[in-house]
Amino acid sequence: MEKRRPLIAGNWKMHKTSAEAADFVRRFLPLVSGLRDRDIVLAPAFPALEAVAAALAGSAVALAAQDAFWETEGAFTGEVSPRMLAAAGCRYVILGHSERRQFFGETDETVRRKVAAVLAAGLIPIVCVGEREEERERGQTFSILDKQLRDGLKDSFTADAGRLVLAYEPVWAIGTGRTATAAQAQEAHAFLRNRLAELGTPAFAAGVRILYGGSVKPENTAELMGMPDVDGALVGGASLQAESFARIVAAAQPGPRKGTAIEP
Ligand code: 13P
Repeated sequence: MEKRRPLIAGNWKMHKTSAEAADFVRRFLPLVSGLRDRDIVLAPAFPALEAVAAALAGSAVALAAQDAFWETEGAFTGEVSPRMLAAAGCRYVILGHSERRQFFGETDETVRRKVAAVLAAGLIPIVCVGEREEERERGQTFSILDKQLRDGLKDSFTADAGRLVLAYEPVWAIGTGRTATAAQAQEAHAFLRNRLAELGTPAFAAGVRILYGGSVKPENTAELMGMPDVDGALVGGASLQAESFARIVAAAQPGPRKGTAIEP
């Protein structure tokens, strides 16, 4: 079975002007230039995309957007289409982040439409799912993940597995310093992968990369990455400094067991 290549993505959220973003890239690229066995992705805010694309030219580091609308063009003030993002140099688009769900009315239905549109534009969605603290306390973690996965990816279980990335981000771990334990992350990732096998095919599930996000730091990356179903990281705060993000990328070693994680 094909191995899943580690993917480490920095989600800068609403940080960095284009000048600050380009400065980051100049510091960051020399620190990761030797790490060719993993995918590295930077997701700046929209106004910095083109400056980061220019600064990344010729490197193996890829560009992501933090959201996209589902229409290609039209009277949708304030929105940005997948086609525009592709033209700006993006290869990935983060969708359904919990902050968009919490503050901007994102639902599983809007995620579903966006995922389909992003795939149709030839871009790779990084689809975020995750339970809130009270949902975990009520024992609803798996039912929440199941619904977000089923409804958000409804049209996409026949997609090429290599063109779809999931991110498990427990909301209680985002920006709080409270990382999920490696065992908690593995349990959720294994659940998601088994559901992907049921909703798609075992081969599809085996090929989809599932990132962990929520207070990832240089100190906890290797342990999380040591889990058989953790294929990478979606990093917020610790991706804002070149040195700390480079340490995370360096710690995200490809694991020997990746690609063999499907339970019969
Ligand atoms: P932190 O790494 O700051 O907890 O953020 C995680 C996140 O939301 C990445 O998308």
